[in-house]
Amino acid sequence: MWALTTLLLLATLEKPILSLHPPWTTIFKGERVTLKCDGYHPLLLELRPISTLWYLGHLLLPSHKKSIEVQTPGVYRCQTRGAPVSDPIHLSVSNDWLILQVPYTPVFEGEPLVLRCRGWYDKVVYKLHYYHDGQAVRYFHSSANYTVLQARASDSGRYQCSGTMRIPVESAPMFSAKVAVTVQVLPWTRPPLPPHGPQPWLLETSRFSSESPRCPDRSRRSPPSRAPPPPGCSSRQVAPRLLGHPPALRRRPWNNRLEP
Ligand SMILES: *[C@@H]1O[C@H](CO)[C@@H](O)[C@H](O)[C@H]1NC(C)=O
Repeated sequence: MWALTTLLLLATLEKPILSLHPPWTTIFKGERVTLKCDGYHPLLLELRPISTLWYLGHLLLPSHKKSIEVQTPGVYRCQTRGAPVSDPIHLSVSNDWLILQVPYTPVFEGEPLVLRCRGWYDKVVYKLHYYHDGQAVRYFHSSANYTVLQARASDSGRYQCSGTMRIPVESAPMFSAKVAVTVQVLPWTRPPLPPHGPQPWLLETSRFSSESPRCPDRSRRSPPSRAPPPPGCSSRQVAPRLLGHPPALRRRPWNNRLEP
């Protein structure tokens, strides 16, 4: 009985994870996306069907399924039995000729940042420019994604794209709405160390980087890899991974906020 109580208690503590498929927070009017709500359920509770509650803003949607298809803009959340409400996902629906799509999950420093400029009904976009804070940063002759292989904090800002479409003659340049992107900085990649009493993971990580040239530098990776260290790395160098993650590492889907 105690075990059952503990399991039920655990089930009540974790928020369900809300995800978006495909992962872009802006879609064209008429398109549909799938939202999925994954709760952490002890095996015991899986024996009974888990019903899910869905919210659009403050509205309760009439579905109890684990995933739903939607095409209405707004702020979505889900909830599984006994658990708190999930983090939100903001979905935008556009009527423009061009949309700039960014993933709903936040990008951490060192990870790739992919921006996707799409033409209406996936028409090819020509003379495609990507802009970062008003400056053209990339040109493509025709439709292509703009990928920053290792994003940095300085890649945060407002992005936009422009291009022409053949409808059927070539149009004047058209512009997407601007989208704000925030690249999350990990606590241990931010130099210099804080003046008063740095957190233990900062101390351990800096020691790790300076004393172990033969081992891969994990200090810029995010989230920290769970892969074992390559042969030749001593057990001392594994220490930083045993410290656990600082709470700031949790993914926060609402950070790539869309702006009209
Ligand atoms: C852009 O990226 C998406 C998702 O990774 C992919 O499906 C799409 O084909 C890419 N578009 C282009 C023009 O490369």
